[in-house]
Amino acid sequence: PARSAVSLPTVARRAGAARIADEAPLRVAVVGHVDHGKSTLVGRLLHATGALPETKVAAVRAMCERRGMPFEWAFVTDALQAERDQGVTVDAGHVRLAHGGRSFALIDAPGHREFLKNMISGAADCDAALVVIDAEEGVREQSRRHAFMLHLLGVRELVVAVTKMDRVDYAQTRFDEVRRDFATLLASLGIAGAAFVPVSGRAGDNILDASPRTPWYRDGGLLDRLGGIAPRPSAADRPLRLPIQDVYKFDTRRILAGRIESGRLRVGDEIVIAPADHRVAVRGIEGWAVDGPILEAEAGQSVGITLDEQVFAARGDVIAHPESPAFETDAFRGRLFWLGRAPLRAGARLTLRVHTAETPVTVERIERVVDTARMTDLADTEVPPHAVADILLRGRAVLALDAARDLDRTGRFVLLDGPDIVGGGLVDLDGFRDRRARPARKATNIARVDHRVTAEMRADRAGHRGGVIWLTGLSGSGKSTLATELELRLFGMGYQVYVLDGDNLRHGLNANLGFSPDDRAENIRRAGEVAALMARAGFLVLTAFISPYRADRARAGKPARH
Ligand code: GTP
Ligand code: MG
Repeated sequence: PARSAVSLPTVARRAGAARIADEAPLRVAVVGHVDHGKSTLVGRLLHATGALPETKVAAVRAMCERRGMPFEWAFVTDALQAERDQGVTVDAGHVRLAHGGRSFALIDAPGHREFLKNMISGAADCDAALVVIDAEEGVREQSRRHAFMLHLLGVRELVVAVTKMDRVDYAQTRFDEVRRDFATLLASLGIAGAAFVPVSGRAGDNILDASPRTPWYRDGGLLDRLGGIAPRPSAADRPLRLPIQDVYKFDTRRILAGRIESGRLRVGDEIVIAPADHRVAVRGIEGWAVDGPILEAEAGQSVGITLDEQVFAARGDVIAHPESPAFETDAFRGRLFWLGRAPLRAGARLTLRVHTAETPVTVERIERVVDTARMTDLADTEVPPHAVADILLRGRAVLALDAARDLDRTGRFVLLDGPDIVGGGLVDLDGFRDRRARPARKATNIARVDHRVTAEMRADRAGHRGGVIWLTGLSGSGKSTLATELELRLFGMGYQVYVLDGDNLRHGLNANLGFSPDDRAENIRRAGEVAALMARAGFLVLTAFISPYRADRARAGKPARH
């Protein structure tokens, strides 16, 4: 039975309080080139929605007067930021604002480098972004870098404020120019549908209401456009991932504590703890500041769980359901954003952090380097600061993680050099083999039957040997079309030929398989076995399968002998 949580104050403090999902605001990162007007705009947005304490504004006005400076909204924002950074008086509520029934948290990072670090480490984890571009200056280096970063982190919801329109006389032509430039850039990253709004942070145009100074623009004020951003789909509906943050011992109980990054967990659930792959059941869920037993918890909540059986588990292990486990590997490809001051070279030894796991890694290979300011590939074997690169990372231990494409919270990594964050990015597992031990399927009590019709006899009759031609390629590349055309031609030429198609097998023999790495491997294993059997029966077999893992293709080349 689950116990009430009051006995666990220490755990609660360390693991962090549960976030209440339905009150969570839309998290919007405010990005843009230096001095393009981010702080000014944020100050305006806060003021327009009544989120700024008047006393604060008055204090800044008085300060400006004393020093004989014109009042700036940026001073107000930056004053709030400074207080927040020092952790005094102002709480996170002050970057919150509400408009039209939605609530937002604006994340306006102090500096470019800090911002990138926060984005990479997940500290500035955001659902959407507000990109600020100076109408006069247009798209600049950091506009491009930030756009690339957002793309890298999977942020697809963008509102672009083309600000300082007062500096360009509210000219539609200039707005259109900037919009075209930036939309082209976004399109090259696969981001479509960004909303563009001409504004002036200083004069307050198109913040709340349509401005008479831009009669040519009628798509709504900036706040309305922010309100139009779709909420992010709930992480609770994704497969369960609970990275273990700590293991606590209370009397005889052991409590595994951590934050549920995705999915749901219920008392009684069977779980697998990777990478050791212990299969156990959840006996109880402990929550913080909750009375009474908890039977279920979901993404965003920090919990402590007890198990029906004592198994060894440690920080960095990942709890999942057996039908959708994490990927286990000691190597992966990282889509890296490099922040180190010196170029990164192959052979570098760094510390890798993925969810709660931390382990030494070596940069085994640098596969591709992209200059993010110009968005071009560099013909280089080292990664200069601020470049993006595909690198191969290898650790000493097997880690449980995910492809960022599938699950972003457990598919994101950070690289540290000593205590410093020097880079980070997304995990790509294409082509890597899942190391999870596959359940043994070998039957031991089956004697082989020796055939009395030999391969030679069959070949004699058919006029050709049996064999397998294995076509592999990406989804949609044309494997099936090629295979069936080949089948028709070969059949016409008198061959005994048959196409074994992946989609067809999934309707029958492989109907019980899904698309997890494990199931994909099993799909290929079965296909390989069937192809081999048919080849021994004298057929020429053409297969059409996406077979992403090299190891599986190799295994299909050497099926068990019959
Ligand atoms: P960093 O945080 O340093 O990157 O700058 P920022 O993007 O926050 O820019 P900030 O809001 O501090 O504004 C930079 C300068 O542009 C200040 O001098 C502002 O007064 C000016 N500025 C901002 N918005 C506007 C605007 O809409 N019109 C005009 N004319 N000037 C603006
Ligand atoms: Mg600023």
